[in-house]
Amino acid sequence: MARVPFIAGNWKLNLGPAEAGELAEALASALADRGEVEVAVFPTALSALTVAGAVEGSGIEVGLQEIHSAASGAFTGTNSARMAREAGLTRVLIGHSERRQLFGETDAGVRAKVELALAEGLLPIVCVGETLEERDAGQVEAVVHRQVAAALEGLEPDQVAAITLAYEPVWAIGTGRTATPAQAQEVHASIRGWLRAHFPAFVAEDMRIQYGGSVKPGNAAELLACEDIDGALVGGASLKADSFAGIVAAVR
Ligand code: 13P
Repeated sequence: MARVPFIAGNWKLNLGPAEAGELAEALASALADRGEVEVAVFPTALSALTVAGAVEGSGIEVGLQEIHSAASGAFTGTNSARMAREAGLTRVLIGHSERRQLFGETDAGVRAKVELALAEGLLPIVCVGETLEERDAGQVEAVVHRQVAAALEGLEPDQVAAITLAYEPVWAIGTGRTATPAQAQEVHASIRGWLRAHFPAFVAEDMRIQYGGSVKPGNAAELLACEDIDGALVGGASLKADSFAGIVAAVR
């Protein structure tokens, strides 16, 4: 069965409740006739409930950009998978490169958060990707496979199949420098090959692998046309309804 394309918007530290609510309403109407494509947005935690209310009934999913690696307790300043689920959110980003680079996220932390999210019925998008230094040193495959392996270690095939992966080369994030379709496809195919080697066949066939890094309406179609690119995780271009809708429209 063909994988349903999945376009997600990571709003990062942008848009408080009022602006986020306006964007969410605009998206709900702009994407009303989007066809067979899944859409999710990731506002800041403070804006998430407003956004969830604004997109209610549209089929657009809402998630958190981050959760803590413990279920509850004395962890000032964080949010938990259970709270996200109780609030009606359905998805969560885990291991975004900004979390890895700026907030000390580790492969082990990613793995713990994946398990917690799945236990609460929250669907994770696990982000992986190499730095420019690692690419120049010929380590793309080694880095990305290590990150994927760590995130999925010890999980049952059914659990793994519920996860979306996002390949986001760090050098392409927020830089305007997109990976070429050939560069992205090569890594996506390599990840799928790794999945095929480590899990029953259905996992590699079913799992969506998004590309992220300077995706725009003008370059989305050629990226999404690649065999192993099943969607996009969009930063900057997800902050305006017309550009995000343009990317969703680039599916097929
Ligand atoms: P940009 O689309 O702004 O490059 O950000 C990509 C990203 O980090 C999405 O998670």
